[in-house]
Amino acid sequence: MEDSVEVILQDKRSWVSHRSQDRPVITAASGALLMGCYGLWSVFALPGFRRVPVHLKVPYLPSSGVQTQNIMRLLRGRAGRLVDLGSGDGRLVLTASSLGFQCTGYEINSILVSYARVKARLMGIPTTRARFVNEDLWKTNLSGYKNVTVFLAPGVMEVLAKKLEKELGDDTRVIACRYPFPDWPVAETEGRGLDQAWAYDMTSVCKPST
Ligand SMILES: C[S@@+](CC[C@H](N)C(=O)[O-])C[C@H]1O[C@@H](n2cnc3c(N)ncnc32)[C@H](O)[C@@H]1O
Repeated sequence: MEDSVEVILQDKRSWVSHRSQDRPVITAASGALLMGCYGLWSVFALPGFRRVPVHLKVPYLPSSGVQTQNIMRLLRGRAGRLVDLGSGDGRLVLTASSLGFQCTGYEINSILVSYARVKARLMGIPTTRARFVNEDLWKTNLSGYKNVTVFLAPGVMEVLAKKLEKELGDDTRVIACRYPFPDWPVAETEGRGLDQAWAYDMTSVCKPST
């Protein structure tokens, strides 16, 4: 029995190695295609990304339409400057600016920043209402903002909470989508599942004593 299993395995191994030896051009072409796809992906998805420490890396994933509406509902009655941390293709910034907010998006990926700027121009939204900045959000002081939107990753929420507690004033509202802040008291929430968003008022958040 063991002998026959060994024979079958040997047959399979030699079949695989024969197949790749038979078709060296196809094998090389598949490899080249995979490398090309990876190269293309890294050009579009990774500019600026390598400078961010590994535990703070967050990939690009756009907010869904429902998620965007949930965030906008949590901003009802609010005014003043708004910042989207990691603004991607600019969809949250552009939607909020159409509701009257004066918005800034910080985004580390320069291609997404250029795309968002072109989209704003095509929509006729001036830079005084929607501004996209190619900067690392971890190196940016956020103290001037009254509204903050965040769609990042679960692993960075605790670190981000510490930064926001230090920099934001009491009258600021922070909206987190998909991943809530682990220790902050929730003021309001909208939606369910992947589209859920949570609002936090900094006046209720415990700040570090200075
Ligand atoms: C999940 S996407 C959200 C995009 C957008 N806010 C939305 O809701 O559609 C997170 C974005 O944060 C950006 N990002 C990640 N780390 C960043 C950093 N350190 N500084 C600025 N942007 C960053 C990514 O490039 C990505 O576009």
